[in-house]
Amino acid sequence: MAFAHTTVLRDPTAAAVAAGVRAALAVDRRGSPAGAVADCTLGGGGHSEALLLALHDLPEVSVVGLDRDPQALAAATVRLAGFGSRFRAVHGRFGDLPGLLPGALLGVVADLGVSSPQFDDADRGFSFRADGPLDMRMDPTRGPTAADLLDSVRLEDLADVLFQYGDIRRSIGTARIVLDEYSKGANTTARLAERLAARLDRSRSLHPATQVFQALRIWVNDEAAELERLLDDVPDRLAPGAALAVITFHSGEDRAVKHAFAQRARTDAFEVRERRGVVADGAEVAANVRARSARLRVLWRRTEFDLTRRSANIDDGENE
Ligand SMILES: C[S@@+](CC[C@H](N)C(=O)[O-])C[C@H]1O[C@@H](n2cnc3c(N)ncnc32)[C@H](O)[C@@H]1O
Repeated sequence: MAFAHTTVLRDPTAAAVAAGVRAALAVDRRGSPAGAVADCTLGGGGHSEALLLALHDLPEVSVVGLDRDPQALAAATVRLAGFGSRFRAVHGRFGDLPGLLPGALLGVVADLGVSSPQFDDADRGFSFRADGPLDMRMDPTRGPTAADLLDSVRLEDLADVLFQYGDIRRSIGTARIVLDEYSKGANTTARLAERLAARLDRSRSLHPATQVFQALRIWVNDEAAELERLLDDVPDRLAPGAALAVITFHSGEDRAVKHAFAQRARTDAFEVRERRGVVADGAEVAANVRARSARLRVLWRRTEFDLTRRSANIDDGENE
């Protein structure tokens, strides 16, 4: 199957991270500017490609693309082969970034969630539009599938998962229905979705199984913990001037990013320039429905120059 994923917020993401790379290199007065940008969610390679093009005049800067999905790595490696040694693909989780890519980072991109090919391939078990196994692993080489987890989960724990990751309010009742139908043989994606549609509230425009599937996917892939590790570890590893750009697709994720960035920006070392983040314009949403719920937030590590300018501004303000 061809790997087709339309990159969301491609230009603003690449522009922010490339500006951060240039600021970081300008700070490096020792004249040793070589370094790497990490694309934590390589997918089809769209953001990596945009970055490599935006930084074409800086051949000493490379992009390391990380993904936990071997299919994504293979496809992006083919797509980006023309960039030679400026691009390298690494199999792994971005929660393990410090071990996988030690040292200071000239910039970081994380475009969260699943890629279209993961969603479109019924055998991966992410979607209920076509029937497939209840798998949902981004990395099919390791870890429990959704079915493995459902085999042994307690009702209360599943309810927590549905509440936290699917924003499902009556989560105990929904968890009971999921476990009941699963145990009665609804153990594939389309079958489970069909049973949920028959028993859950159908008054909303969303398919009743949508939030349940989102919650199961986030649980299977430990996405909340992965994001937390990224937000904890990466800011301090940014070179002065560099940017961390994160694109989220649902409110829980966006809240976590907004909160973590705001905490960092309370210190002098970091800043957030666009407080509300950046969303896709009408043309992008018309061309790609996935862009509708995307929000880009960027955290910048301040340079000494930023800090001096900032304290001069504060002094000026105080003297007025
Ligand atoms: C939305 S897609 C990225 C698309 C990419 N930016 C592009 O333009 O083609 C998200 C990708 O991140 C990967 N991914 C999600 N969570 C990950 C994690 N914790 N560590 C590594 N890769 C992850 C998924 O396997 C998927 O391929």
